[in-house]
Amino acid sequence: MKITGTTKITGVFGYPVKHSLSPVFQNAAFQYLDLDYIYIPIEVTPENIRKAIEGIRAMNFVGVNVTIPHKKNVIPYIDEIDREAEILGVVNTLVNRAGKIKGYSTDGCGFILSIKETGISLEDKTVFLLGAGGSAYAIAGAMAKEHIRKIYICNRTEERAVMLKEHLSEKFNFKNSSVVPFEEKNTEKYWKDIDILINTTSVGMKEEDPLLIDKKFIKSLKLVYDLIYNRKTELIKIAEKTGVQSLDGLSMLIYQGAVSFELWTGIKAPVDVMKRSVHKYSKR
Ligand SMILES: NC(=O)c1ccc[n+]([C@@H]2O[C@H](COP(=O)([O-])OP(=O)(O)OC[C@H]3O[C@@H](n4cnc5c(N)ncnc54)[C@H](OP(=O)(O)O)[C@@H]3O)[C@@H](O)[C@H]2O)c1
Repeated sequence: MKITGTTKITGVFGYPVKHSLSPVFQNAAFQYLDLDYIYIPIEVTPENIRKAIEGIRAMNFVGVNVTIPHKKNVIPYIDEIDREAEILGVVNTLVNRAGKIKGYSTDGCGFILSIKETGISLEDKTVFLLGAGGSAYAIAGAMAKEHIRKIYICNRTEERAVMLKEHLSEKFNFKNSSVVPFEEKNTEKYWKDIDILINTTSVGMKEEDPLLIDKKFIKSLKLVYDLIYNRKTELIKIAEKTGVQSLDGLSMLIYQGAVSFELWTGIKAPVDVMKRSVHKYSKR
């Protein structure tokens, strides 16, 4: 990679940030397209986040991604927020246009783009959504806009599932969601018409984590999506074994990064190059 006096700077602010895969695929994309950009991981502690945002203006960064724990706490320090990010109350991408910083959330859009690649349309599909945390909000909102038929929301803490249901109704006028009590997740009646299972919980990150959904419900699905990207989860392994189409968290990670790339450069992201670089790096 050639760094010159004109190289434009992007990167990621997080704490910790050392496990981030974004530098791998963003730099691969810049290099492939011969763009004079660089993407660097920058560890920023919560107490330094305001100064770090000022630094974007002071050092004329093109923009950055922000990750845990900064997705919410950068908002008071930026100048503008995209509507989708405002609804979610979080940003993951900042763009610096002539000293004015605008925040975006690219998770929902990245999720939809990754599904489009499978050739499966979300229209009229019924989804079983495990989890009601930050990523579930981004995904559920994005699906509501894609004319999904129904979403069953199932979360360990039921009140959070209820809050997500209300959020979908209020912000997206999406009324066709139901809360499934966590202890009833393997009850036959819910699984009759499910097309897509999405795991947005952190269960599966560790090898010893349990499989939350009974194997017998997986074989009739059209798609299994597990947002976890640090390893191939049991859920994905079972989908592969039973011939059900599946996507792991690397897909969403790359597509949300591709949307950030396009916001910074105005150029279409080379998604295949990004994917190859990550698979090579993580030896998957
Ligand atoms: N691929 C990507 O691009 C991408 C993007 C974002 C996130 N992710 C991954 O998605 C996962 C969730 O991220 P997030 O930002 O949504 O996190 P979050 O806001 O902290 O939500 C965590 C979710 O996991 C559930 N959970 C945690 N431990 C559990 C357990 N032992 N049993 C059942 N449910 C449990 C939580 O349920 P409670 O409400 O009951 O606590 C909650 O629904 C993480 O693995 C993250 O790495 C991937």
